[in-house]
Amino acid sequence: MRDPDWTVLAPARQGRSFERFQRELARRNHARLEPLTPSGDWRDDVHARAALAEAEIAYVESVREAIGPLVADIPSDVDAFLTWYERLAESGPGQRDPLFPWLERQASFDEMKWFLEQEVSGEAGFDDLVALTQIKMPCMAKLEMARNYWDEMGRGNAQGMHGPMLARLAAYFDVDARPEQVCAESLALGNTMVALASNRRYAFHSIGALGAIEMTAPGRAAHVERGLRRLKVPGKQRQYFSLHAVLDIKHSQAWNREVLRPLVEQDLRRAQAIGEGAVLRLWHGARCFERYRRRFRLRAEPPQEAA
Ligand SMILES: [Fe+2]
Ligand SMILES: [Fe+2]
Repeated sequence: MRDPDWTVLAPARQGRSFERFQRELARRNHARLEPLTPSGDWRDDVHARAALAEAEIAYVESVREAIGPLVADIPSDVDAFLTWYERLAESGPGQRDPLFPWLERQASFDEMKWFLEQEVSGEAGFDDLVALTQIKMPCMAKLEMARNYWDEMGRGNAQGMHGPMLARLAAYFDVDARPEQVCAESLALGNTMVALASNRRYAFHSIGALGAIEMTAPGRAAHVERGLRRLKVPGKQRQYFSLHAVLDIKHSQAWNREVLRPLVEQDLRRAQAIGEGAVLRLWHGARCFERYRRRFRLRAEPPQEAA
C-alpha cells in the first residue's frame, strides 16, 4: 500500500527526512529481489512493489535535478563523449578524496572496521546489478557484461567469486552489517544502484554507473589494500581489495570499449543517460566519503599525491 508518510520524503537530501527515507528504502530493498514462493496476498505485494518503485524513482529524479550542472555539457559525439566520461576518473565527484590515503596510512583497526561496515552494507552486489542491467542489451554490450559477470562469479570457481570474497574480509573484521549500523549516505548509494538497475527507464544510467565503479574502484582499492596490509590483515582476507585494485582496470577499459562505445554509436541520445548515471554514482560516493571524513574528524584537504 502507498505510505505517504514515507514516500513524500523522497526529495530530502539531508537531515532526518533523508535518513528516514533511505532507511525505509533500504529495508524494503533488502527483501525486494529475494527469490520467493507464492504466499500472502499477491495484490498487497504488487502494491508494495509499485510504492517502492514510485518512491525510488522520485528520489532518483530529485537527484538528477540536483546534479544538473554537472551533466549540462555531456557531448553527444562518440569520441568526445568517451573522453568526457574517462575524465570523470580524475575530476568527477569524490575523486582523489583524502579519506583513502588516510585509510592507507593512519586508520586504526576499529576505524577500518567502521569503514568496511559502511562499504559492505551499502554494497548492492555488482554481479546482480550487472545481471539486471544486461537484459535485452545489444549483442556486443551484452557479451562484455557477460564476461564481467563471469569474472564476478570467479569464472565458475566458488573461491574466486567476488561477493563471498568481500564476505570473508567482513567476517575477519567481525563487521556488523545491519542497516542500523550504516549511515544514510551509504544506504542512499546502494539504494540508487538498485533503483537504476531495477527500472528499465534507467537502463543506460545503470550502465554508466556500473562503468564508473569499474573506472574509479582501482585507485581506492589500492589504498585500502595497503591499509589492510599495514594492519596485518592476512592476504586471503585482503583478496577482495588486492584483486579489484588490478582487475577493475581491465574491466573498465573493456566496459568503455565494448559496452559504452557501441551503445552510444547506435544511439547518440544514450550518451546523456550513461553520463548522468556515472555522475549519479560518483556524487553519491562523494557524499559517503565526506560523511566518513566527518566521522573520522578528517579535514577536507586535497591529498598530497595522486590516487
Ligand atoms: Fe568485482
Ligand atoms: Fe570489476
